[in-house]
Amino acid sequence: MTKAKPDDKTSQLHRIYASGSPEETAAIYDNWAADYEGHMAGAGYAHPAMVAAMLARHQPAGDAPVLDAGAGTGIMGELLTALGYAPIDGIDASEGMLARAAEREVYRELRCGLLGTPLDYADDAFAAVVAAGVFTEGHAPLDGLDELVRATRPGGHIVFSIARSYLGETFAAKGRALEAAGKWRRVDASARYDSTPLSDDVLTAQVFAFAVV
Ligand SMILES: C[S@@+](CC[C@H](N)C(=O)[O-])C[C@H]1O[C@@H](n2cnc3c(N)ncnc32)[C@H](O)[C@@H]1O
Repeated sequence: MTKAKPDDKTSQLHRIYASGSPEETAAIYDNWAADYEGHMAGAGYAHPAMVAAMLARHQPAGDAPVLDAGAGTGIMGELLTALGYAPIDGIDASEGMLARAAEREVYRELRCGLLGTPLDYADDAFAAVVAAGVFTEGHAPLDGLDELVRATRPGGHIVFSIARSYLGETFAAKGRALEAAGKWRRVDASARYDSTPLSDDVLTAQVFAFAVV
């Protein structure tokens, strides 16, 4: 079957890709929070497993703490806990999504905040940072990576998915700029994959791992 268009499982995502502001994005997620996991499970949502697998390949579970950037309802927190990472902190733009994440009781701390703005975390605060489904259109800007690098200690890994128009040269340029500035070094990248393989839509993505210098 040719998969080429949004269907009911990914229609909310397409509204968010077209969002005009972080406030609009957060409001859509606030309203979607109760149904988010059902819709994404139905679409075969792949980012969390891909990001968790890539983190486990490069960062020992004993290294702590870990920041889940764009934590949403906490799917990553549950996966990382099962893999032995603790404690885990989370940040997200949507209070509604964070309320769901809190119910999982796997995070040490959850805070509302915007990637792409200065974050109230100390330099080198985290052993590793993950971000699943966050660096894409209508979500966090690629410059949001700068603060995640600052908050990760040297030798720690930042593992995240990149999707849609951010993929390819757009992200490659950001990766090179941070490498040229001596901030990080690329250590791994997945093959490209469809992050919603059970929907009638193709949302192409790739997961990257960088080590902070
Ligand atoms: C597709 S969901 C992914 C959530 C979770 N990581 C997962 O895999 O289920 C994207 C999340 O990013 C959050 N988000 C979007 N833009 C953001 C920004 N600029 N700063 C922080 N969070 C943002 C949304 O509120 C939403 O919870």
